[in-house]
Amino acid sequence: MNNLTNQGRTALVYGGSRGIGAAIVKRLAEDGYDVAFTYVSRPDAAGALVDEVAALGGNALAILADSTDASSIEHAATAAHARFGAIDAVVVNAGIYKAGQVGEVSISDLDQMLAVNVRGVFLSIQASVPLLKDGGRVVTIGSNVVNGVGSPGSSVYQLTKAAVAAMVKGLALDLAPRRITVNNVQPGPTKTDITSGFLEYLIERSPQKRVADPSEIAGAVAYFLRDDAAYVTGASLTIDGGFTL
Ligand SMILES: NC(=O)c1ccc[n+]([C@@H]2O[C@H](COP(=O)([O-])OP(=O)(O)OC[C@H]3O[C@@H](n4cnc5c(N)ncnc54)[C@H](OP(=O)(O)O)[C@@H]3O)[C@@H](O)[C@H]2O)c1
Repeated sequence: MNNLTNQGRTALVYGGSRGIGAAIVKRLAEDGYDVAFTYVSRPDAAGALVDEVAALGGNALAILADSTDASSIEHAATAAHARFGAIDAVVVNAGIYKAGQVGEVSISDLDQMLAVNVRGVFLSIQASVPLLKDGGRVVTIGSNVVNGVGSPGSSVYQLTKAAVAAMVKGLALDLAPRRITVNNVQPGPTKTDITSGFLEYLIERSPQKRVADPSEIAGAVAYFLRDDAAYVTGASLTIDGGFTL
């Protein structure tokens, strides 16, 4: 690991096995954190990430925990705490996108998106807070779609991410007495499995004619974890290359 500043610190990433979450796990491990992370469908990706972090000299723990299930979410926080000790930072990245215009959205897709992207985010933070150190950090992953300039077929996704941006403000106030900050990173189009089907379309629409690399989103998360970001709370930071300006 190339940075010893955070040695002995612990992070828990909900939804860390792939894409932006995996980039966050790697970045925090590089920054010196012991990192526990959850996954739900890809034990292969989760195991490979643990090995990758170990090869870099770091410590990672993969925990199977579905963000739609309250007891699994709680188990993840307890397992992270049991392995690495009191938690310094919780990052809630797990999220899903199911496209559908208003007439096409099924009840099941609606419920699933609300369950992972909203209910799961709140429950992950609620489960972690008792195990989080005073002065700790909570970071959620929202989306730039809340700024507007979305695409048809994204209304439910858009509402879930707007809920996250609103939620961090209330949570920031709840946790301010413990000097725990709560902030939200809002990525624009980023090269992951979610965007693999329409990358060319996104690149064409982008002012910089490119999408983000997941490491660029992880960099924003790392900012909120810095000691000198201790007075930043309730904020949403959009990282989208000007996509929604
Ligand atoms: N990519 C973009 O352009 C973009 C833009 C704006 C916002 N975002 C947001 O960024 C976050 C990550 O997106 P991504 O593109 O990196 O997605 P991704 O490549 O599909 O990865 C999603 C991650 O979340 C985990 N996950 C999904 N559902 C889960 C559940 N029910 N319980 C636990 N973990 C779950 C997955 O675990 P498994 O590997 O086990 O399936 C995986 O680690 C999401 O919140 C997304 O809305 C993405």
